[in-house]
Amino acid sequence: MPVQPAQRAVTVRVPAKVNVQLAVGAPRPDGFHDLANVFLAVGLYDHVTATPSPTPGVTVSCSGPGSELVPLDGGNLAVRAAEALAGHHGVAAAVHLHIEKDIPVAGGMAGGSADAAGALVACDALWGTGTSRAELLALCAELGSDVPFSLVGGAALGRGRGERLTELPVAGTFHWVFALADGGLSTPEVYRACDRLRGATPVPEPEADPALLAALRDGDAHALAAVLVNDLQPAAVELRPSLAATLAAGLAGGALAGLVSGSGPSCAFLVADAESAELVAKSLRASGTCRAARVTNGPAPGATTIGSHA
Ligand code: C5P
Repeated sequence: MPVQPAQRAVTVRVPAKVNVQLAVGAPRPDGFHDLANVFLAVGLYDHVTATPSPTPGVTVSCSGPGSELVPLDGGNLAVRAAEALAGHHGVAAAVHLHIEKDIPVAGGMAGGSADAAGALVACDALWGTGTSRAELLALCAELGSDVPFSLVGGAALGRGRGERLTELPVAGTFHWVFALADGGLSTPEVYRACDRLRGATPVPEPEADPALLAALRDGDAHALAAVLVNDLQPAAVELRPSLAATLAAGLAGGALAGLVSGSGPSCAFLVADAESAELVAKSLRASGTCRAARVTNGPAPGATTIGSHA
């Protein structure tokens, strides 16, 4: 009897991100906020493996805490991504997804978005559905505001709610230290707190800062440090006051600048080089103001298929 070839599993690697500029406009009628969102992908990765399975399912292993915050049902963004792709092509979502998480869970580093982008790319390869880049980006945008960037990686300006991307040129490598916190922060809650703190103050249209785009293009860490900004930071610090001490500890430890990453609670510190990254991380760990400190750099590539195996 001929031996059936084993069906293959596909593994896709997806990066975390930091927002080097997050300019937030007034709330829109649909509840979202228009943004000028400058994303930089960094080298902390989740791996999503798609394996053929008659019973769809998802399992998760985490390098850090927070696995209890990752849904194991249809609430998981990776599962929704697989279902959206299957629906798009009219095929069954007959897949088991395994997510190996190294991106901090609910940390403001787009871990859930990364998993969704990874699942799309992995399932597309597994099912041979040959989805075009434009279709993939449209599916990403339906899944969440940050998902298109997780697919693309590198550096990009996100307009609209962050899903309309223009890729940005970056010279060289920027070195970062991330201070990780216990527990997550809810993104909708942080946006609501941002609106509340602003009260009746008129909110300007969010615009990308030309000095920041130039700093990225020139690979100038000192210039970038001078203009890093996150409009969600006051809200994140209000909801998690201990972040003020974390931000101060990173600066005292020698970082060029620090800011809350996305909606938090991770804090990102830009440093001059790989050597100072180690020193700042050590100093953050010793400060007792964070759960852990991770050294990384960016830009990092977007969703990348790293293995296709039996
Ligand atoms: O798009 P995503 O599902 O990641 O958004 C999560 C939540 O974050 C939204 O429901 C909304 O409350 C908030 N958000 C926003 N404006 C954006 C992006 C997200 O208000 N541009």
